[in-house]
Amino acid sequence: NNKPTALIMIFGATGDLAKRKLFPSIYRLFQKEKINKFAVVGVARRSLTNEEFQSSVKDSILTFGHAEEKVDEFISHFQYHSHDVSSSESYLQLKGIAEELDGQYQLEGNRIFYLAMAPEFFGTIAEQIKAQGLTESKGYKRLVIEKPFGHSFETAQKLNEQIRTAFAEDEIYRIDHYLGKEMVQNIEVIRFSNALFEPLWNNRYISNIQVTSSETLGVEERGRYYETSGALRDMVQNHLLQMVALLAMEPPIALTTEEIRSEKVRALRSLRPMKVDEVDKYFIRGQYGEGTVDEKTLPGYRNEHNVNPDSNTETYVAGKLLIDNFRWAGVPFYIRTGKRMDVKSTNIVVQFKDIPMNLYYKTEETLNPNLLVINIQPDEGITLYLNVKKSGTTSNTKPMKLTVSNKGIEHINSPEAYEKLLFDSMRGDATNFTHWDEVALSWKFVDTISNAWEHTKEESFPNYAAGSTGPLASDELLADDGHIWWQIKKDTTESN
Ligand code: BG6
Repeated sequence: NNKPTALIMIFGATGDLAKRKLFPSIYRLFQKEKINKFAVVGVARRSLTNEEFQSSVKDSILTFGHAEEKVDEFISHFQYHSHDVSSSESYLQLKGIAEELDGQYQLEGNRIFYLAMAPEFFGTIAEQIKAQGLTESKGYKRLVIEKPFGHSFETAQKLNEQIRTAFAEDEIYRIDHYLGKEMVQNIEVIRFSNALFEPLWNNRYISNIQVTSSETLGVEERGRYYETSGALRDMVQNHLLQMVALLAMEPPIALTTEEIRSEKVRALRSLRPMKVDEVDKYFIRGQYGEGTVDEKTLPGYRNEHNVNPDSNTETYVAGKLLIDNFRWAGVPFYIRTGKRMDVKSTNIVVQFKDIPMNLYYKTEETLNPNLLVINIQPDEGITLYLNVKKSGTTSNTKPMKLTVSNKGIEHINSPEAYEKLLFDSMRGDATNFTHWDEVALSWKFVDTISNAWEHTKEESFPNYAAGSTGPLASDELLADDGHIWWQIKKDTTESN
């Protein structure tokens, strides 16, 4: 039996993430028999009995995990500890529970500390875990930590120092859930396993790359957090820059965690830093106002719960990144992300340069550029846009799409990001987690932008309507370079 074993202590076990993602993910690992020796301690402030906690775990699985098979057996692996974050005594009690479960389930002293709660306590918890001897079992100890990992380079560094007092870098698993997405993991495979793409993957053949992550949801119940974050810190610093690193990195010499990371770090190091007074040239921000979707009026950001009615927080960001190395000199990477947009879609568009001489340009049809589209969600797949002869004509062309899509089977087969990442953390595979060097570099890049924005009030806010495609300035950013955002239609299976 070489299945991983673990005692998972989830701090923040009564929170939303635990309910929506963590319990259902652990359940699926159990149901698929990827794990059998495990126990979970839910740790949170609220006072609950084990039975009450187990029944809330059961509810969450039935709500989000779609099955009832063996649920009672599954929840018997769960216990609850009502915790006081700053009391040493409370950590000692937790240690007692851990030792007991360790014996009961033969967990070999393997421990995962999963921090799924407000970041202001991360430091205290890590220090107490160490001080009260919770890391002194004989197996592995790993800290899995959710975003936000800091608010700026400086705060991230401080947090990092705090957690490093208890855990070594290779024991820290910083979650970026985009790295658990099937198609994000596919970026490397598409690039490095196809003779068709890698030779063209450079500034000789690629005109620009566009990374879009648009959401239809607004800020929901997270106004308090979002007011301190905005789209730049919430999405760009982590998810979008991670995708850029995967698209831009050099081929690693092997598929090991260290080799992949060092190439990603090199890619992030090649990002051209901006000066504060250049930010407006490369980055634009937006904030949604009231809008109508399906005949329903949606409130503007400033009227959302826990949001300042005069808020300067951006809910949309578009930017142009330049990567100063031999491969990418001169190729813009455009990124954009926004809340309350017209569609929920994360995708990457690689636009190839025009062919050297167009024999067909005099025809009625314009020759479209070749595009490689990587659809990350909601549909998963790849579309390649080509030009072919329009039948019945001699030299007219028409665009053709070659599509591979997992639409339809995605809900059955594609493991949720959290399921994969949790399993990786139990197996000790840190490849799809972010190393401190990556976090540090991306914060340094983003800090310049947030500093510039914090010191200037954006007078045009709100500058896009809920349910729209975002602020006009976003189109102008590309138009200045002679490019457009490729709006990728929702239906990617259609081909003509
Ligand atoms: C999270 C952000 O990291 O990612 C949220 O905090 C955002 O604001 C979410 O909604 C988007 O994730 P996904 O997987 O739905 O694209």
